[in-house]
Amino acid sequence: MKILVTGGAGYIGSHTCVELLNSGYEIAVLDNLSNSSEKSLDRIKEITGKDFEFYKCDLLDFEEVNKVFEAEQVDGVIHFAGLKAVGESVQKPLWYYHNNITGTLNLLKIMEMHKVYNIVFSSSATVYGNPKSLPIVEDFPLSTTNPYGSTKLYIEGILKDLFVSNNNFSVTILRYFNPIGAHKSGLIGEDPKGIPNNLMPYIQQVAIGKLPQLSVFGNQYPTKDGTGVRDYIHVVDLSIAHVKAVEKKSDVAGVHIYNIGTGNGYSVLEMVKAFEKASGKEIKYKICPNRPGDIPACFADATKAKNELDWVAQYNLEDMCRDGWNWQSKNPNGYEE
Ligand code: NAD
Ligand code: UD1
Repeated sequence: MKILVTGGAGYIGSHTCVELLNSGYEIAVLDNLSNSSEKSLDRIKEITGKDFEFYKCDLLDFEEVNKVFEAEQVDGVIHFAGLKAVGESVQKPLWYYHNNITGTLNLLKIMEMHKVYNIVFSSSATVYGNPKSLPIVEDFPLSTTNPYGSTKLYIEGILKDLFVSNNNFSVTILRYFNPIGAHKSGLIGEDPKGIPNNLMPYIQQVAIGKLPQLSVFGNQYPTKDGTGVRDYIHVVDLSIAHVKAVEKKSDVAGVHIYNIGTGNGYSVLEMVKAFEKASGKEIKYKICPNRPGDIPACFADATKAKNELDWVAQYNLEDMCRDGWNWQSKNPNGYEE
């Protein structure tokens, strides 16, 4: 079975390529490299000892994407490609809507033209907005607070409408909680451009000495220590969830939606402590005002993924911090020399 991985050069995509290849799938990768490096593809080959085609191609270019489907007989698509920076999406909403939604519309039209009816889509826990209670279950009400989150919610709606119009489709929507960590080899990992927006890449860059200290966004939330609580999940566990989705759902028509998290919530200060332990480095921090749009706490009920995908997260917080530090310390400048 051959899977086209859009956004396969990126953080989660590259890890999923490794898990697909190690599980015996053939793959082809489509990416415009707008937020990634081609070197990640060499590293995937190094880790797995397997080869695959790469198409440097933009999903906004309908003709070029169509050519990829003409060249490759794929059985399904895992669709990671998209822009993901919340703050940037507030500054450039039209660009985010265009890239993420038009890109997905092109992909879906071309899939239908070529009778490729299986898709796994990267959604996010951001579609739950500020949840009414915890843990979050898949049927909670949906809302968003920024254009990035809205692109995820709209694409979920587009996929549901597509299935109504064409019952051949098998659509799996994975709502990720907070992916962190890296492959244990230290060859692939998250390589944010500029100053990181997300907590773990920021902590990692403080540990390596690239940034002086962490700003902790708020310590007056109604949480265990007043700082924000999230459900951090090892990126390899998240990647394995994609393989399970392909295995279990690709020939089951319908729209299948799953939370992909561990079910555990950790505070910002707990993350600082855990990373200090894993790295042996002190993480200096200062308490700052809340970040606009942040919610106090968020963690998953992932029972549905356990029951239907036979998927459960295997890695704990110590593993996530150890593997994140292994990647960061071996590659202080990411994929750049
Ligand atoms: P990433 O930026 O590392 O990977 C996305 C990839 O898509 C990049 O390689 C980029 O070059 C490519 N891309 C973007 N627009 C494209 C286009 N028009 N045509 C072709 N390629 C394009 O991000 P990631 O962290 O690996 O995230 C993957 C997916 O998961 C994204 O859709 C993201 O929104 C979603 N997601 C990520 C997180 C997270 O915390 N990282 C959480 C929830 C959901
Ligand atoms: C953020 C996005 C979310 C997106 C997700 C993955 C916002 C408001 N939300 O989620 O839509 O799906 O990334 O890309 O941007 N923190 C600090 N200092 C920092 C960075 C973060 O204290 O420098 C805190 C935050 O306040 C939060 C926690 O760490 O409590 C996690 O933050 P982050 O890693 O950015 O993830 P989310 O906010 O959950």
